[in-house]
Amino acid sequence: MSYFNNSLMIPGSGSRIISALSVTLLLGPLACSKDKPAHSETKTAAAPSSAPSSGSGASTAPAEAASLPAPPKSLGGFSTPKNNPTTPAKVVLGRKLFFDKRLSADGSRACYSCHEDKSGSGGALPKAIGAKEKQLSRHAPSMWNVAYLPRLYWDGRADSLEAQAKGAWAGGNMGVGKDNLLAKADEIGALPEYKAEFDAVFPGDGATPETITQAIAAFERTLLCGDTAFDRFDAGDESALNESQKRGWDLFQNKAACKNCHTPPFFSDAVRAAAGAYHNVGIGIEGLAAADIDPGREKVSENPSEWAAFKTPSLRNVSKTAPYFHDGSVVTLEAAVRFMAGGGFKNKNLDSKLDDKKLSDEEVQNLVSFLGALDCTGSLKP
Ligand code: HEC
Ligand code: HEC
Repeated sequence: MSYFNNSLMIPGSGSRIISALSVTLLLGPLACSKDKPAHSETKTAAAPSSAPSSGSGASTAPAEAASLPAPPKSLGGFSTPKNNPTTPAKVVLGRKLFFDKRLSADGSRACYSCHEDKSGSGGALPKAIGAKEKQLSRHAPSMWNVAYLPRLYWDGRADSLEAQAKGAWAGGNMGVGKDNLLAKADEIGALPEYKAEFDAVFPGDGATPETITQAIAAFERTLLCGDTAFDRFDAGDESALNESQKRGWDLFQNKAACKNCHTPPFFSDAVRAAAGAYHNVGIGIEGLAAADIDPGREKVSENPSEWAAFKTPSLRNVSKTAPYFHDGSVVTLEAAVRFMAGGGFKNKNLDSKLDDKKLSDEEVQNLVSFLGALDCTGSLKP
């Protein structure tokens, strides 16, 4: 396993004075879409807000406002918690924290350690290894478009990015422990490269468990992927997909019926549903004793009909996020597609939408080619 050697992973981001130019440079590669939406679809879109938040300094707010990535036209707007408006300075701070190993209990890992660009912003390992080298029970998902998810995690147990970040930070991922968050926040806030930035972004509050997770969440809300080849095709550019991909798109919608759960434009039905959307496809069941099977959503909802059901993952960027499924048990995209098109694995709770679509090898290849048209172009690193 290779983590970064230096504890702070963004070179040069320690600058305390955030000029409009550096904000533009830092935010530039994040946005997949260069298109500005004609209008924003939600009351509280992530689009630049000129209203100074609890944090943004009046002197820098107007210049910064122009630099936040707008929600891609192909995806529309999303809502942002009223008490945590996204500002460029907050995003810069949040990104720095996301990459900083000093946030973890033992300095061993950052958020980024399990959500790296080289594995599509999901985990490289089947199951993530958390603080104290303890193996976690699930595979780390991708960070693209998490801003749109009403429920986070494979089982939807977190209802905001802020809550999720706190969970990851206190829990097994970073290992700090709920009771030590305050002390850890003080430690971070006292570092010279952070103090002035926290004071500027969160005047009066500085670094607290709340402001640290708010900044991280603000950064995550800029990780937008809406300019894939598929988006260009969908907007009318016939040449954006090759022939195999076009056949794959047809299969995806019709014969293979993948879109029943992987609904465009997010390629997940979990995005527009307030409680998320969970299905049992039979992963993580074969060969295991009942007591060893991850109950998934059932543990959160206490509804037996959701036993071993997991959030439908978005298929955006999926060609880069191997290994697959909540337990990372499937190594290649082709094998994942074959598994899904074959109807999943039979068990007492298999989703009724799944059955063997009897696809030929060529049809499976067409589906795999099509999924390649969902590759995102951005990166988490500046
Ligand atoms: C040790 C590896 C590891 C570290 C470190 C880590 N994560 Fe994760 N992350 C995971 C795993 C595994 C999951 C899925 C867990 C689950 O669903 O139960 C996850 C899930 C997520 C999700 C939910 C995505 C979705 O589709 O629902 C977000 C957002 C996220 N992590 C952000 C963060 C942030 C922010 C940090 C730092 C505070 C962080 N992660 C640190 C492994 C890690
Ligand atoms: C009944 C809803 C449903 C249908 C229909 C469906 N999927 Fe899925 N898909 C899911 C769920 C839920 C998961 C995650 C399951 C898990 O990890 O336990 C998933 C996971 C995947 C993954 C792994 C993604 C990742 O990031 O780990 C791929 C690839 C995939 N599906 C492709 C397809 C294709 C191709 C089709 C059509 C042949 C299809 N799916 C049909 C619900 C569905």
